[in-house]
Amino acid sequence: MSDLSLFFGQFLRRPSEIRAIAPTGRATAREMARLVTPDMQAVAEIGSGTGTISAAILNTGLPPERLEMYELNAAFCGRLRDRFPGAVVHNLPAQEMVNVGRAGLDAVISGVPTLPMPDELQSAIVGAAFQMMKPGAPFVQITYGPAPPLSEAVRRKFALSHTKSPRIWANLPPAQVYVFRQL
Ligand SMILES: C[S@@+](CC[C@H](N)C(=O)[O-])C[C@H]1O[C@@H](n2cnc3c(N)ncnc32)[C@H](O)[C@@H]1O
Repeated sequence: MSDLSLFFGQFLRRPSEIRAIAPTGRATAREMARLVTPDMQAVAEIGSGTGTISAAILNTGLPPERLEMYELNAAFCGRLRDRFPGAVVHNLPAQEMVNVGRAGLDAVISGVPTLPMPDELQSAIVGAAFQMMKPGAPFVQITYGPAPPLSEAVRRKFALSHTKSPRIWANLPPAQVYVFRQL
C-alpha cells in the first residue's frame, strides 16, 4: 500500500489524532530537518506518521541509529520500521520519551498536531521534550494555522522564544515551521 493510501486510511479511522489528510510535502519536510546536522548525537522525531520528515532528517546524513521516533499509530510504526531499519521506533506517545528515551537530545522535530490540543497536553509533550533536550536545542514544530502552534500560556510556562519560516504553499494544507527554544 502506498504511503498516501495508508495515511488517508488511518486519517479516516483516527482523524482527531492525525489531523491531516496527506503526509507532509517534501519542501516542508526539508524545512523541518534544516537544523539537523550529521554530527548530532541524538535526535527525536515525534508524530512521524509514514516518515516523510524522517526521510528528510536522514537525508541530512544523520546516522539512522541516532534517530528515535515516537508515533501513536501502530500501522504507521510498522511502515517506519520497514522504511528506516536502524532507527529506533517507539509505538508510544511523545510524552513517554522521559521514560524510555535518550537524554541529551540535540533536537526534537515534531509533526504532532499541537495546535488543537489543550494546554495540559501541549505542556506534557513540550515539557517532556525540553526535559530530554540539551540546553539551547531546538524544538521544531509544523503547523497549518495562522497562530503559533503552542499556546501563549505554554510558551510562557517553559520560557520559549520562537522563529518561524515563511508559509510553505507547496503543502496540503499550506504549512509553516516554528522553531522554539528555551530562553
Ligand atoms: C499530521 S500527522 C503528521 C505525520 C508526519 N509527521 C508527516 O509529516 O506526514 C500527525 C501524527 O502525529 C501522531 N500523533 C498524534 N499525537 C501524538 C502523540 N502524543 N505522540 C506521538 N505521536 C502522535 C499521529 O498518529 C500522526 O501520525
